[in-house]
Amino acid sequence: MLDCFNRNIDYLRISVTDRCNLRCTYCMPAEGVAMLNHNDILSFDEIAEIVHYGVEHGVRKVRLTGGEPLIRKGIVNLVSMLSAIRGLDDLSLTTNGILLPEMANDLRKAGLKRVNISLDTLDPEKFASITRKGNVNDVLQGINAAIEAELLPVKLNCVISESSSEPDALMVKQFASEKNIEVRFIHLMNLETGEFSQVEGGEGGYCNTCNRLRLTAHGLLKPCLFSNEGFSVRELGIAEAYRLALKNKPESGSSSTSHNFYNIGG
Ligand code: 5AD
Ligand code: SF4
Repeated sequence: MLDCFNRNIDYLRISVTDRCNLRCTYCMPAEGVAMLNHNDILSFDEIAEIVHYGVEHGVRKVRLTGGEPLIRKGIVNLVSMLSAIRGLDDLSLTTNGILLPEMANDLRKAGLKRVNISLDTLDPEKFASITRKGNVNDVLQGINAAIEAELLPVKLNCVISESSSEPDALMVKQFASEKNIEVRFIHLMNLETGEFSQVEGGEGGYCNTCNRLRLTAHGLLKPCLFSNEGFSVRELGIAEAYRLALKNKPESGSSSTSHNFYNIGG
């Protein structure tokens, strides 16, 4: 699939739920998030159909995100359904890691290739304050579980406020090198002001080579993280929603007030 700027769109990021078992300060408000009704959420069959269509038209990579994808009931079944689609080369998932100790093996068996795990600090108190309730040890166990289950390469996502040489980032970098895994440093973004930035060690944030579309949990295909536009696969049908998302993919992102990180998954 080529967009209007000749970018080859081969990557679909799918948010499977708005919900999360943590509430990171930069991602979700402390309370009062209007959660989606279960019927508004795409079913696994609908998601699989959307991915099928995408793969027939050039999608090669899918990443499952949230919210926290591992709290979506039956997520292992969705992984099985998607990994069975021929032509899909890369199936990955971005998680906070909390549930990986119990799920990593099943995910791997279902055909998941690899995971990105969010880890902003190793300091237990700071971690608890960023996530408003998390225990960093749960994430560390999740990282070990992912490595043991060979969900490789395991990559860490580390949100930084100033630079990748601030103390927490350096600790995460050191930890990652001990574990022999990669880190991607992501500058803190603000979707409303369009304050977004490039990902050190990743491909996000480079508009001129952007290869992605996004699918929200309630079925909007979105051309860009920093855009209010979204095309409903339920209202328009799959082919038309793809066509419009592609046609409306901006040359570069501006700002978005219609969604937040917990419903677009970073
Ligand atoms: N700025 C940058 N990254 C964010 N994420 C969530 N909210 C933000 C934000 N405001 C990213 C984190 C997390 C992933 C799921 O989304 O990197 O690892
Ligand atoms: Fe949950 Fe990830 Fe958002 Fe934190 S950043 S609240 S772990 S979805």
